[in-house]
Amino acid sequence: MRESVPHATTPDELLRLKSEYLIPCVYHFYRRPPHIVAGDGCWLIDHEGRRYLDCYSGVTVMSAGHCNPAIVEPAIEQIRRLQHTTSIYLTEPVLRLAEELAAIAPGGLRRSFFCASGTEAVEGALLLAALHTRRPGVIAMTDGLHGRTRFAMNVTGLPMWRTDPFGMADVYHVPFGDIAVLDGVLGERGGEIAAVIAEPIQGNGGIRVPPDAYWPAVRRVCDERGVLLILDEVQTGFGRTGRWFACEHWGVVPDILAMSKSLGNGFPIAAFLTTDAIAASYIRPGASTYGGNPVCATAALATIAYHREHGLSARAARLGERLLAGLKDLADRHPCLRSPRGKGLMVGVDVVDAAGSASPEQLDELLEALKDRGFLCGKTGRGRNVLTLMPPLIIDAEQIDALLAALSACLDEMEDG
Ligand SMILES: Cc1ncc(COP(=O)(O)O)c(C=O)c1O
Repeated sequence: MRESVPHATTPDELLRLKSEYLIPCVYHFYRRPPHIVAGDGCWLIDHEGRRYLDCYSGVTVMSAGHCNPAIVEPAIEQIRRLQHTTSIYLTEPVLRLAEELAAIAPGGLRRSFFCASGTEAVEGALLLAALHTRRPGVIAMTDGLHGRTRFAMNVTGLPMWRTDPFGMADVYHVPFGDIAVLDGVLGERGGEIAAVIAEPIQGNGGIRVPPDAYWPAVRRVCDERGVLLILDEVQTGFGRTGRWFACEHWGVVPDILAMSKSLGNGFPIAAFLTTDAIAASYIRPGASTYGGNPVCATAALATIAYHREHGLSARAARLGERLLAGLKDLADRHPCLRSPRGKGLMVGVDVVDAAGSASPEQLDELLEALKDRGFLCGKTGRGRNVLTLMPPLIIDAEQIDALLAALSACLDEMEDG
C-alpha cells in the first residue's frame, strides 16, 4: 500500500489562508478539518499520514477510487502527448467517448455536448430545451440542486443553494414526488413550458427516492403536454445507484440527460445527451473551451472501461443493500436515526432530536466523531440533518462493516455523553 508523503503545513495555516484569500461562500466541513494530502483507492490521507475511509467520494465523483492507476496512467500519457486543443480541431478521445456514451445511455440518447462541470451540463440542457420547444418556461422540483450559474441556481429548489437575490421569471417549482401538482401546473402553463428538470433521486435534497409510480407518471404527463423531460444525473450517474443511470430503475428515458462527476473520476468533464431529433434544434455554433478536452476524455474512457471490467454498478447494488440493512439495524436501536433509505451506494438517514425534529447540530457532532475515528461522511437535506453515505463503488464488505461499527460506537458515545 502506498504511503503518504509527509507534509508539514498544518490545517490551522490552511484555515488562515482560506479565511484571508477565498470568497467566504466557500465553506468546509468540520470544526477541526484535516489537511488532505493524498488519496489511495477508498482512502484519503492527511498531512500526518492518518488514513480516513472516504464515504463521500468528493461528493460522488471518485466512484472508481482515488488515484486509480487504470485511469490516471492513460491520462498522464495523454498529457505528455497532447493536453489541449479545443473542439475547433479534430481529436479522437472525445469522439470515442461520445460513441461510448451513446452505447451506455438509455433509449435513443446518442448525441453529446461536452463541457467541464455539472452546472454547465444543466445550463446547456436547459438552453437546448428552449431551442427545441421555443418556449421559455421550466418546471423544477423543491429541494432539487442543479448548480451555481444563475439559471441552474434558479431551477435549484434547495433554499441553501439559491443565492441569487432576484430570482428569474419562467421558473416554477413543484413538490418532488407529487405527480398531481406537476400535472396541475402543466395543465395551467403547459404551453409556456419547455421542460421539467429533476434529479431521479435527490442527492443534496437528502437522498430522496420518489415512489415507484412517480417517474413513469412524470414521463407520461410530459409526453401528453409536449414538454421535455431533463434528468440531472450529475450525482446519480455511472453506477452510483446500481445501474449506469438511475432512470433505468423505472424504465424511464429522458429527452435530455445531464451528467458529470463520476464520468471523469476526478477529471473535470461533463456532458448532456439527447436524441437526434432534439439535437437537430441546436445548430448555431456552440463551444466550451475545455469541453471534451483530450485528457479529460481519455480519463472518462478509462473510467467507463474500469466500471465495465469491475462490474461497479452490480457491486454498488450488492454492497448498497448491505449498508442499508446495517443502517436499518442501527436505526432500530438508536432513536436519533430515522428513515434509512437509498439505492445502491447512495444512502441517507435522518438525524433527529428527542422530539423527532431535524437535528443538524447532532449530525455535525456525529460527523466530527466519525472523522476522528477515521471515516469521512456527508451531510445533505433541507434541514442539513441527513447523514449521507456515498463511498467509492470499489469499497468492500469489510470496509462497510467497519463504517457501520464506527457509526454504532459514535452513536453510543453521543447517547452516553
Ligand atoms: C445533481 C447535481 N446537479 C448539478 C450539480 C452541479 O455540478 P458542478 O458542481 O460540477 O457544477 C451538482 C453538484 O453537486 C449536483 O449534485
